[in-house]
Amino acid sequence: MTETTTKNTIPGVKLTNGVSLPQLGYGCAFGDWLGRTDFQGFLPEQSWHAIELALKAGFRHFDTAYCYGTERHLGDTLGRWFADGTLTRDQVFLTTKLLHPAAPPHIAISHRLTCDWYTEPDLKQRILDDFDRSKEKAGIGYYDLLLMHWPAPFDNTDAEFGRRTRADIWSAFEEIHQRGEARAIGVSNFARHHLEPLLETATIQPMVNQLEVHPYCHDAELIDYCKAAGMVIEAYAPFASGGLGLLDDPAVMEIAKQVGYSTGQVILRWHIQHGHVVLPKSSSPRRLSENLAIFEFELDDDSMARLDALGGGEARRTCPDPSGIQ
Ligand SMILES: NC(=O)c1ccc[n+]([C@@H]2O[C@H](COP(=O)([O-])OP(=O)(O)OC[C@H]3O[C@@H](n4cnc5c(N)ncnc54)[C@H](OP(=O)(O)O)[C@@H]3O)[C@@H](O)[C@H]2O)c1
Repeated sequence: MTETTTKNTIPGVKLTNGVSLPQLGYGCAFGDWLGRTDFQGFLPEQSWHAIELALKAGFRHFDTAYCYGTERHLGDTLGRWFADGTLTRDQVFLTTKLLHPAAPPHIAISHRLTCDWYTEPDLKQRILDDFDRSKEKAGIGYYDLLLMHWPAPFDNTDAEFGRRTRADIWSAFEEIHQRGEARAIGVSNFARHHLEPLLETATIQPMVNQLEVHPYCHDAELIDYCKAAGMVIEAYAPFASGGLGLLDDPAVMEIAKQVGYSTGQVILRWHIQHGHVVLPKSSSPRRLSENLAIFEFELDDDSMARLDALGGGEARRTCPDPSGIQ
């Protein structure tokens, strides 16, 4: 499955349709949703500087979403690199996600960037319109990967509504893919009960499931199921969004000391050795370089097992648990 891209030294993972997905990408969600500051929500203004730093450091794979508000910043920053000939469109891999349901009330996200699945008169049309806006904001003709952001609203208990709606949305995704405007399509935050009925009705199977994955949150059963169904796992919030004490966990610190790399690098390496595509966010030039320098060392089986064991018991998460959503 793993191959080396010619674009840079980051390995690529082959999707079922042959598209190569770089195993390390840059997360373009900026803001605070863990309650560290007074304001909770997205702060896309932080991305102007950080995306430029990420490009300079060597990142060429970017993960954004309609609700992050960073598609324009990503497109404009890339545009400057395209304009002076430093970079061409085929040298970058761009992902966006659509149809984020209404956010929990304490998180400030404009209702124009989220979607009320219950009252939207025509979700399929909404997807097609949002996707056009998404391309316009980024100033590009196609995305490399388009994901359905969440399987349903966070409070949805109506299984039939969820199943029917996901099938409708997926048919819009298939249309976009068939038009060549998304080279690959997939889902995010899908549990097994969301995937099973979708796989039965889909004409094109989802190629990716983007999930919260880190050593404190690692649903091996779901990951194995997705892999067996041909999906690549993308790990979001790979450092638990810098929260939950993961980066200072004594086991992670001990392994970091043993191998002579930072705790962040050890965590990223754990993801890579599990075969995940991993999407860290950083606004620091030093940590951006660190996060790229993870292909020059390996964790031994014992270290991998110790990190796996941190996920024993109840998963600790930074985002809502999708398993309760119908
Ligand atoms: N599909 C979804 O529903 C979903 C949900 C959440 C996130 N995501 C995606 O996943 C991406 C990453 O998740 P995230 O932004 O929540 O958090 P994250 O990447 O897990 O963590 C970011 C935090 O870790 C710090 N950090 C970065 N590199 C580090 C290193 N080497 N050592 C120590 N600390 C380091 C950053 O600080 P500095 O900036 O100061 O370095 C920042 O505070 C998002 O940007 C988004 O693209 C998707």
